[in-house]
Amino acid sequence: TDAAAVTGRRRPAGTGRQLTSAVPLPAPYTVPLPIPPVLARAGLSVGADRYEITQRQVTAEILPGVPTTLWTYNGTYPGPTLESRRGRPVTVLHRNELPVPTTVHLHGGRTPAGSDGYPTDLVLPDGWTEPDGAHTMHDPRAVTSRVTRAYTYPLDQRATLLWYHDHRMDYTAPAIWRGLTGMHLVRDAVEDALDIPRGDRELALTIADRAFAADGELAYPALDPELRERPGVTEPYAAGVLGDVIVVNGAPWPVHEVEAVRHRLRLLNASNARHYRLEAVTDDGRRLGLVQIGADQGLLAAPVIHTSLPVAPSERYDVVIDFGGLPAGSRVRLRNRLGRGRTREVMAFRVARAAPDDTRVPAVLSEDLPTWRRSQATAVREFTFRAGRTGQGHGWFIGGKPFDPARTDVRTRLGAVEVWRFRADVHHPVHLHQTGFRVLSRDGGAPLPHDAGLKDTVSLRPGETAEVITRFDGHRGRFLFHCHNAEHEDMGMMANLEIE
Ligand code: C2O
Ligand code: CU
Repeated sequence: TDAAAVTGRRRPAGTGRQLTSAVPLPAPYTVPLPIPPVLARAGLSVGADRYEITQRQVTAEILPGVPTTLWTYNGTYPGPTLESRRGRPVTVLHRNELPVPTTVHLHGGRTPAGSDGYPTDLVLPDGWTEPDGAHTMHDPRAVTSRVTRAYTYPLDQRATLLWYHDHRMDYTAPAIWRGLTGMHLVRDAVEDALDIPRGDRELALTIADRAFAADGELAYPALDPELRERPGVTEPYAAGVLGDVIVVNGAPWPVHEVEAVRHRLRLLNASNARHYRLEAVTDDGRRLGLVQIGADQGLLAAPVIHTSLPVAPSERYDVVIDFGGLPAGSRVRLRNRLGRGRTREVMAFRVARAAPDDTRVPAVLSEDLPTWRRSQATAVREFTFRAGRTGQGHGWFIGGKPFDPARTDVRTRLGAVEVWRFRADVHHPVHLHQTGFRVLSRDGGAPLPHDAGLKDTVSLRPGETAEVITRFDGHRGRFLFHCHNAEHEDMGMMANLEIE
């Protein structure tokens, strides 16, 4: 089948097929918003803050009263939030007590290759003996560890919201679906100097979708023997798996009590395949502005006001929303214009009381954004992101080829400025490891308002061509670029970048 026929332009929710939950679901806006715990430092090793995370399977409730098996970082979904300062190195010792190999990638981190969680650099669980699939075994550069691995992050980068997640070859999508994601905030002096909301008026929000089987377990086509054995079922899901439950910080359609003041929302779309177009609406139908102050890779130069904001998988948006002037008892819903029925709802804010507000959104947010020019580029490269066929069936290819860890797709030099042009058949959120980029154009025209700032993911719309410009000024080594629709990624839509 042609992928475009499956996912089509008429399906605005993005790429994918939606599963239907088989358990009773709570009414939206009844469950309180959880705030993931901030991870305490386990100690100081030489020149770095040291943290410890155990990856383990737990039974926990996402839906109230419904126990669900989750794969977690330290027992919670999302995992604990890390908070770091720019330029202060962090070491995270991960211990794998899950039944499968894992790797950990800090998304958006400018990380040395050895700590980037390359898909074949596996951390094997205790007692794991079977070979892990032919292609993984055939990567001569894979560095396998047993049970533990220390990942080191220099964090020499602009303040922003990063996130960490599993990145194992061929199995990232089900691992993320089962719970392997967490947030990592980087702070710096530029951000400190702004009078923007902080403390409990800053909320980091992991937005994702899930579906639940009749026994309360997470539904996922490859995990569900019944679905797997029904002919023709796997192919449509190859376009991407969507759930019918919207989960924010691990709770379905939560509600959060706020004072009637400005709040800073750090939005992360950690869904496998779902795209959102978020808007904030009062119960009497008024839309509140979403004032964007930051993108994937930190603060914008100046705020951009949106009435609705498209958020593709893995993108982060830093927005300020003003509840000022709303009467106590009023409610503001964060809604998804691309959803239908239940998936149109995301979360709600309940205004508790008036309060003084001494915050503002400064007209100048940052002055350190890179301003690379096309004339500086030493290479212009073009990549198609398209469906393809392999011997095993449906796949997703970059430049006509499925991912091969042993092949170098792009070779460049440290410090090179390059323009990369991406062409898409269907929706593909394209993510580049190691470096941030600026969006230069879409279909030859100007970028969109939400393309502002420094990004690490650009959301390509069906049939679209986008250009980005970047400078490879981080670390040398082997890094990835790929589609961040997790199912596309698992089905081959990744490629290797070698920075020499
Ligand atoms: Cu968030 Cu290579 O990924
Ligand atoms: Cu894709």
